[in-house]
Amino acid sequence: MIQAFHVYKQYDRESMALSDITLHVAKGDFCFLTGPSGAGKTTFLKLVFREELPSQGQILVGGRNITAIPQGQIPELRRSVGVVFQDFKLLKRKTILENVAFVPRILGVPAREQKRRAFASLRSVGLHHKMHAYPLQLSGGEQQRVAIARALINEPMLLLADEPTGNLDPEMAQEIMRLFLEVNARGTTVLVATHDRDMIQRMGKRVIALDRGRVVSG
Ligand SMILES: Nc1ncnc2c1ncn2[C@@H]1O[C@H](COP(=O)(O)OP(=O)(O)O)[C@@H](O)[C@H]1O
Ligand SMILES: [Mg+2]
Repeated sequence: MIQAFHVYKQYDRESMALSDITLHVAKGDFCFLTGPSGAGKTTFLKLVFREELPSQGQILVGGRNITAIPQGQIPELRRSVGVVFQDFKLLKRKTILENVAFVPRILGVPAREQKRRAFASLRSVGLHHKMHAYPLQLSGGEQQRVAIARALINEPMLLLADEPTGNLDPEMAQEIMRLFLEVNARGTTVLVATHDRDMIQRMGKRVIALDRGRVVSG
């Protein structure tokens, strides 16, 4: 699902965010990306999502070389990859349903279809009964589940999560992990960046460890 070949990323002259990253995440895998702050976890996810381009090297996602695709094909890539962040990034003045329907709306999907898909996605995270609430009326864990529903709305082949439990207490973090396991069981490849060693240990999944921009294990 993700194949990286000798990937380097340099933001500025002084330091290298990623150095010679070669790794493979198979279709259907559930995998953690770990390492201390500044190790390059977020940078790697941004490259996979084509939010940044590598300075050198190639990245294939779902068999397509995303470092070489034309600008016009980026939206299609983004539709097939869901992304979840630490801070949820929900729109405070929109309802839960509107937040989840946001992506199909900007893609020009008809209103009824937007709602149908958003409802189905909210149901898959167990929050359809709160669809008319606003983000701040929900707990942190629930807000993250809404963000996951939004990321899943196009039934992506790949789900990327960047420190998704960083703002949550351990119980809520567990719940989010359970949800990721369910998503993975339905066939989506999952890559979670986190520095939470306890959580990684509890999960017993494959771990790719980065340190100062290099793969040190995994
Ligand atoms: N937009 C940016 N501009 C310059 N340097 C950056 C930028 N983003 C990240 N970096 C640097 O790249 C390195 C890796 O950062 P990051 O990928 O955010 O690591 P992590 O997510 O593991 O904490 C750090 O040294 C960081 O300061
Ligand atoms: Mg980070």
